[in-house]
Amino acid sequence: MRGLFSKGLLLLIVLACTGSVLQAQPTHRLVIHADQGRVQISRHIYGHFIEHLGYGIYGGFWQRDAQGRWHLRQDIVDALRRIRIPNLRWPGGCFADLYHWKDGIGPQEQRRPILNAFWGQVVEDNSFGTHEFMALVEALGAEPYIAGNVGSGTPREMAEWVEYLTAEDGPMARLRKQNGREQPWRVPFWGVGNESWGCGGNMDPEYYADLYRRFATYLFNYGGNRLYKIAAGPADADTTWTSVLMRDVFRRNPGLMQGISVHYYTWISKTGRWNDKEPATGFDEWGWFKGLQKALFLDEVLRRHEAVMDRYDPEKRVGLIVDEWGMWHAPEPGSNPAFLVQQNTLRDALVAAVSLNIFNHHAERVRMANLAQTINVLQALILTREGEETIVLTPTYHVFDLYKEHQDATLLPVELEAGEYRYGDEAIPALNASASRNAEGAVHLTIANLDPHQERVVQARLEGIQPARVEGRVLTAEAMDAHNTFEAPDRVRPVAFTAYRAVGDGVYELRLPARSVVALTFYPR
Ligand code: AHR
Repeated sequence: MRGLFSKGLLLLIVLACTGSVLQAQPTHRLVIHADQGRVQISRHIYGHFIEHLGYGIYGGFWQRDAQGRWHLRQDIVDALRRIRIPNLRWPGGCFADLYHWKDGIGPQEQRRPILNAFWGQVVEDNSFGTHEFMALVEALGAEPYIAGNVGSGTPREMAEWVEYLTAEDGPMARLRKQNGREQPWRVPFWGVGNESWGCGGNMDPEYYADLYRRFATYLFNYGGNRLYKIAAGPADADTTWTSVLMRDVFRRNPGLMQGISVHYYTWISKTGRWNDKEPATGFDEWGWFKGLQKALFLDEVLRRHEAVMDRYDPEKRVGLIVDEWGMWHAPEPGSNPAFLVQQNTLRDALVAAVSLNIFNHHAERVRMANLAQTINVLQALILTREGEETIVLTPTYHVFDLYKEHQDATLLPVELEAGEYRYGDEAIPALNASASRNAEGAVHLTIANLDPHQERVVQARLEGIQPARVEGRVLTAEAMDAHNTFEAPDRVRPVAFTAYRAVGDGVYELRLPARSVVALTFYPR
């Protein structure tokens, strides 16, 4: 009896020391149907957004040289080209409904300044205007997405902007040529207002739908340019707005509206108040869990809008355009609160990873998405600092790098036993994944482990492909709020992922570190 007891005790001590009782790595099954798939993931899902707000444009993209002249920062352009930025939305946001485009053309020193009433009431000198934006998107190799002014503008003003940009001839084309641009530009994406239920005019959906039809009627296709016209849509899960637009615009005049936008921000607050948001860094596990839980709710938001759209448009002619999304934290201490400056941690990276996987799964209806707001504002990809010659790439930037292979690839069905990550008496799926196949037959898997404590082991089976070779990268860090700074720019960056092994024909065991994003490419024979 004594011997048995001491053997049992010994066993318990050994198990406790190795952690195998409490810490056994959960195992998950994943099947990727690599020979299926019928929906293309539009590259425009990987789009971005800049607004005249804080240091996004001035002090971000647009920098003064030694002579005080503005110019584009080439290092930023190069960094965004590396992740294949497909489009850029401009000039807002709320600013779009305050912006009068004619203030921003012609010689820069003669441009009329305005007050940027939404964002800190700073003087906007209009030195960054239409020509500068179009030069930026050309440098990026991206497509422009312009948001026109409905709130304080007129149908004529918006119609003339389209004419100025895209017509070969006529009064607006002549004005453009006087300003140094002979050839019309190609402008595929056009937004008719922004958040018209709020900063874009505080309208009711019925009133906006009437205005939409009126404005959109005068947005002509000149020459070979074809406008994809996007209505200002709801925030979050407000399906009433979507349903009124589908009924009063799409059902009446189907050709007038190609997309409806929706905005979804991930913000967390202990009091539930908008002005009491939690900080970007220094959060505890509650902040990690809540951030990811809220990000996952995006799936439900999209489902609800899609259900409404499907009722009117089962053929899915109208796209759902998530033209503002991302984490919105409390402003950085010491910064101008109207400039929306925030750090960007491993949590932001996981939120981006989950959101992009969700967009991929909804690619049949979601045709574009734009993270807010590229440089120095909200969930930025890149940080700059005055007088600093280098830039900081945030963890979110690295997620876009890991995910770029999904652009224009075919979405593949996946079955995932995601398991649970529990916090207190709540739980969310521990894993989140999506997969696609490119034109060469390579399969790209992106998978996030949301559990901040435990490695998760995945048995991944690829059906319909015999991979010849696998390559992977992983993004993780020691702390949930690890982030990059000018002093330590590479604290969070992807490294080669080697924690996988083949365990059968087309079957792999993947060991996903706690709080990580992994991207794997399986190359066909
Ligand atoms: O991205 C910041 C602001 O958030 C935008 O200007 C507005 O559209 C939204 O409310």
